Amino acid sequence: MELRICGRTISLPRVVHPRPLNSANLLVGEPPSFNTMRKIICLLVTGFCLIHNLSAQESPAARDQRMQWWREARFGMFIHWGPYSVLGGVYHGHQQQRGGAEWIMNRCKIPMAEYQQAAATFNPTNYDPEAWVLLAKQAGMKYIIITAKHHDGFAMFKSAASKFNIVDFTPYGKDVLDALATACRKHGMKLGFYYSHAQDWNNPGGAAARRLSAEGWDNPAAASVDAYTAANDGHWDPAQMSTTMDDYIDRVALPQVRELMTNYGDVAVLWWDTPTNMTDAYALKFKELLKLQPNIITNDRLKRPNFPGDTGTPEQQIPSQEEVDGKDWETCMTMGTSWGYKSWDGNWKSPETLIRNLCDIASKGGNYLLNIGPDAQGRIPTPSSDALRAMGDWMKTNSEAIYASKANPLGPLPWGRCTHQQNAADTVLYLAVFDWPTTGKLLVPGLHNQVTGAQLLADGTALPTAATAAGMEISVPAKAPDAIASVIKVTVKGFIPKRTKAATKQMKTGELD
Ligand code: GLC
Repeated sequence: MELRICGRTISLPRVVHPRPLNSANLLVGEPPSFNTMRKIICLLVTGFCLIHNLSAQESPAARDQRMQWWREARFGMFIHWGPYSVLGGVYHGHQQQRGGAEWIMNRCKIPMAEYQQAAATFNPTNYDPEAWVLLAKQAGMKYIIITAKHHDGFAMFKSAASKFNIVDFTPYGKDVLDALATACRKHGMKLGFYYSHAQDWNNPGGAAARRLSAEGWDNPAAASVDAYTAANDGHWDPAQMSTTMDDYIDRVALPQVRELMTNYGDVAVLWWDTPTNMTDAYALKFKELLKLQPNIITNDRLKRPNFPGDTGTPEQQIPSQEEVDGKDWETCMTMGTSWGYKSWDGNWKSPETLIRNLCDIASKGGNYLLNIGPDAQGRIPTPSSDALRAMGDWMKTNSEAIYASKANPLGPLPWGRCTHQQNAADTVLYLAVFDWPTTGKLLVPGLHNQVTGAQLLADGTALPTAATAAGMEISVPAKAPDAIASVIKVTVKGFIPKRTKAATKQMKTGELD
């Protein structure tokens, strides 16, 4: 049921009416029952809270202050880790056909009891949180977001709300978030939690986004399995439906979010995911818990469209210039083809792609949240750690072009990307050159400000510049200092009038768009 309030569409909690509720009931029929009255009051309270929620605006200055570290960070580590890493994208010898390996339970339609048997063997004895934090740091990352609970419903932390957690359910028996929080504190790394608040395939009552059997394996019973999920709101095991979503939200999800907000010190980010079957009423309850961490930053996946959070979340893609909307945004991306560990992944992005992606994202004013999927022993796949070290080597020389940078003020540049810093009387441009000129001259089209200095970040070499009708021309050495992206720092007097166009398209921010 949807209401229009203050020009916004608000969906109201789904309630099962004992008999049709209409104005006739209220006007001429018998007096409304206690239950009906309770539901009406509940709807009115939700509507009121929502209007209050929409109007309780933080001041722009307070928001800027809360967002500051995040806007300066530009680069973070995403970690997808859970008992799905035990399966590693393989079910009874079948390679999972589609999607991330963290979805294996849903794609392959694994019954709850069977998935839980696998989860009960999760024993990541090689887990070394300090090494993870140091690797993130070495790569130049400023924050870590880890899956506290993914859609499989397994909590990577001690929880009183569900026994399906790493402490109570596995031989490992330790809270991995607690150890990570300690390591992050020790090394000055911000820590945030991903939490699948609506989808939960092991705690009854949780939602299940429907996927077809063929996306898992070539199951001969596919037709009947698909008919079952169609008839049961995406669920494939009757045990998933032994209670309602209302009950799941109150009994599992809200208490767990409270645990996360209370037991791990400062939580920098709460990263919601897939608002399947969410209502505004549920979202308000989650939002209330965020008050336990007044400085927390949240993404836009709690419930659409009334809970936009702080950040947009383009997934596996970098928005085009037409989509960049001036909002804070963060591209999350895998290094291979899966978020969770996939034993047979062979398709890893090269350091060249990753470094250029980072430059591209920074040049559009966004953050890069780059994922690792550790295995069931707690080891980070070598292609990931190698690529992170390569990014770190590049960052050692060039991070000045990334941290706290502002988006490219110039139009599109044929040879690479650009970020800038604005000072009181001058502007510093960072030109990340992907295609080094063979002519010894690099043209910065349309730049006519007076130049006060140009140098290579690699070794500080000063570069001569000349004003031309087409723009500023920089004389560069024959060989690129960095085969992937060489940064030239140019300082010019005054401001550069912004030439990038305003967004004309809406940014795609995840699976559900
Ligand atoms: C998706 C997927 C999920 C992954 C996430 C990362 O919505 O459901 O597996 O965690 O995006 O952005």
